[in-house]
Amino acid sequence: MSSRLTVPDFPRFKAEKRPIVCVTAYDYTLARLLDEAGVDLLLVGDSLGMVVQGHDTTLPVTLDHMIYHTQAVVRGSRKAFVACDLPFGLCHRSSEIVLEAAIRVLKESGAQAVKVEGGASVADTIHSLTSRHIPVLAHVGLTPQSVHAFGGFKVQGRGEAADKVLADAVAVEAAGAFAVVLEGIPAKLAERISQRLIIPTIGIGAGPGCDGQVLVVYDLLGLYDGLKPKFVKRYIDGSGLVRQAVSLYADEVRNRSFPVEEHSFSE
Ligand code: KIV
Repeated sequence: MSSRLTVPDFPRFKAEKRPIVCVTAYDYTLARLLDEAGVDLLLVGDSLGMVVQGHDTTLPVTLDHMIYHTQAVVRGSRKAFVACDLPFGLCHRSSEIVLEAAIRVLKESGAQAVKVEGGASVADTIHSLTSRHIPVLAHVGLTPQSVHAFGGFKVQGRGEAADKVLADAVAVEAAGAFAVVLEGIPAKLAERISQRLIIPTIGIGAGPGCDGQVLVVYDLLGLYDGLKPKFVKRYIDGSGLVRQAVSLYADEVRNRSFPVEEHSFSE
């Protein structure tokens, strides 16, 4: 048995007021670095549809894509808990189909949990998984799989809509989720939900009052030049560093200063 974090660690972190560090991951090499840096939760998010595959939304991602990327993340990590998003379209179908998909994820990828987007409307589906001991990370607020219904990636839960997001969070907790991602909601609402729930909340664009935070790794590293939401903090200028390194390589290939003897094999 590995020494990864497990489901019971998450409520314990909340009880100890120890913030949960979550980052998305999609491949072996970055998963390994994130794991070594001490990330608690590696989320193989369907955001890979945008930052890895180049789509405008997460909707085209399939279950096979999710399993493929999660396998690589599991191989790259040793200590972090790994969760895999269920892609768009699954939770619109019967609980049996979702159960089959979640079983495939746990069996084939090695993930320890699935993430399910949606609140009260998917609570029965979440319960059908958790009652069979399949851990679920829930996700409410600005759920990107609902981008068309929301008319874009827009903040949810402002004004009177706050009660709906709160009700969604309460419903997924009652359905047995072990933690919930709060995305794109006002900071005060996120703080209220975090105080109300026993399970930890993990925020993205939800302010500092959550029990943990998640960022998309390509945003954190400054590598993704697509959407630049207000809540993203870029910890390095990854795009600039990559452009600089690759143009230096290109110059050296063109002026024949790479490779030299130290990069070459003798007879
Ligand atoms: O798909 C994803 O990466 C996510 C996180 C941003 C929460 O859902």
